[in-house]
Amino acid sequence: MQIIAILFIVLTVIKLSISNCYWSENCHYKFFSSKTPYQFVRGDIRDSIVKIKGCDVISVWSLVRHGKRNPGIDFAQNMLDATTMKYAVKLNHENGKGSMCAQDVENLNNWEADPNMFKNVHHIAAEGYQEMFGIGYRIRKAFKGLLTSLDDRYYKLRSAYGAWIENGVKGFVEGFGNTSMIIEKSNPIYDITAPYEACSIYVKKVKNNEETYAEANKYQNTSEYLAVKNRIQQRTGINYTLTNENITALYDLCRYTSSGINNVFSPWCAIFNKEDLQAVEYVGDLRHFYRNSYGNPINKMFGRIPLADLLESFNMAKNGKGKKLTVYFSHATMMDMVYSALGLFNDDIPLRSDFRNPERKWRSSKTACFAANLIATLNRCSNEESTDYNVAFYMNEEPLISICNEGVCSWKEFEIKLKPFINTTMDFC
Ligand SMILES: *[C@@H]1O[C@H](CO)[C@@H](O)[C@H](O)[C@H]1NC(C)=O
Ligand SMILES: *[C@@H]1O[C@H](CO)[C@@H](O)[C@H](O)[C@H]1NC(C)=O
Ligand SMILES: *[C@@H]1O[C@H](CO)[C@@H](O)[C@H](O)[C@H]1NC(C)=O
Ligand SMILES: *[C@@H]1O[C@H](CO)[C@@H](O)[C@H](O)[C@H]1NC(C)=O
Ligand SMILES: *[C@@H]1O[C@H](CO)[C@@H](O)[C@H](O)[C@H]1NC(C)=O
Repeated sequence: MQIIAILFIVLTVIKLSISNCYWSENCHYKFFSSKTPYQFVRGDIRDSIVKIKGCDVISVWSLVRHGKRNPGIDFAQNMLDATTMKYAVKLNHENGKGSMCAQDVENLNNWEADPNMFKNVHHIAAEGYQEMFGIGYRIRKAFKGLLTSLDDRYYKLRSAYGAWIENGVKGFVEGFGNTSMIIEKSNPIYDITAPYEACSIYVKKVKNNEETYAEANKYQNTSEYLAVKNRIQQRTGINYTLTNENITALYDLCRYTSSGINNVFSPWCAIFNKEDLQAVEYVGDLRHFYRNSYGNPINKMFGRIPLADLLESFNMAKNGKGKKLTVYFSHATMMDMVYSALGLFNDDIPLRSDFRNPERKWRSSKTACFAANLIATLNRCSNEESTDYNVAFYMNEEPLISICNEGVCSWKEFEIKLKPFINTTMDFC
């Protein structure tokens, strides 16, 4: 009996003192909401392009979110403050507090901030430039028959306003293989690639309205989220109560200092376990859902603007007057709005604070990852008797199968979906 009791104690002690190690974990959770590196979620348009017998691609249209950028000024400051936690974690570990394993603590302590990240707030990051380069490169390769030697008349590149977006377009054209390509000037007041920015109703009633973030805020008070905070506190041995801002700053350190290009996960991610990362990701989903998507009926209206352009572009191309390539560069908000206008990833039950559905369709890590993109191709299919058209859709370079049969819509299906958007105006703004 005594032996069993001792054994039990020993086993309990061992169980408590050995924690999971992040560095040696086989498979890291890689979905970081709108800060997910593109490389973690992308397909490859060169491989995924749907080949249909008798059909040729005659026009390519795309909407692309900018690549990885540095955090904005407020977030950067909170992150910088939070970096001091690496010393606290080390000290706590030496004093037998916290439950992180030695290597994770050491990796964290050896971590150095990239000064560029905090200095050049909101600028495109080197990785973001690479992400855009890669998309330009792969699009050119995938459609080489169509896109080799493109003169000015046959393409249109347009960027939304913002240095980090416009600088990323340079990466795109470099990857595409022609740095002389003309990029249309962005318009800070109104842009087809970001029409919501100029809509005072949207800015006031949605974007800057605290109500929009109510579910995300409420979620941060649920027992599920409080348990996350508690676990982080236990794990790090921090002896003061972490605020929600603290958690965001630590999450930002984890995701901004991970790299998709080099497939490197930040030692800051070791502060979280998989469940924790899923919970903080959900905060992002709730924010995106209410600010940009089905959470507010106004949001989908803005997605109709670029989609009307898509229909128009392909109509022109059908008539031999279109572009071979049209690419718009924009924001996460625009991506979310376009998917909402298309009715995609629409859950039966709206996303709520009191229930995080692990099977939910709405995932900001996919709709709004860095360099998130939607590509549509117009395919002309001819035989002796007739000519027909269809449109294939790709999301992050994978067939967008939920839109139509395997991602390919007949021309009729395409028109039925997009025609209602043709005369969308922003008059309600
Ligand atoms: C948490 O927030 C407090 C108050 O803003 C700040 O003093 C502290 O440095 C933060 N800690 C971390 C780890 O971010
Ligand atoms: C909290 O931990 C810090 C070291 O991280 C230590 O200096 C401080 O005395 C502790 N405070 C309390 C109240 O235990
Ligand atoms: C590169 O872009 C310029 C400007 O649009 C164009 O005149 C030229 O034909 C392009 N070159 C190739 C090889 O596509
Ligand atoms: C969360 O809980 C705190 C403390 O009980 C409370 O002050 C705050 O108003 C709550 N926030 C929300 C959004 O429910
Ligand atoms: C759009 O407006 C034009 C001009 O008022 C009209 O002729 C056309 O039928 C409208 N199209 C749709 C799809 O509503």
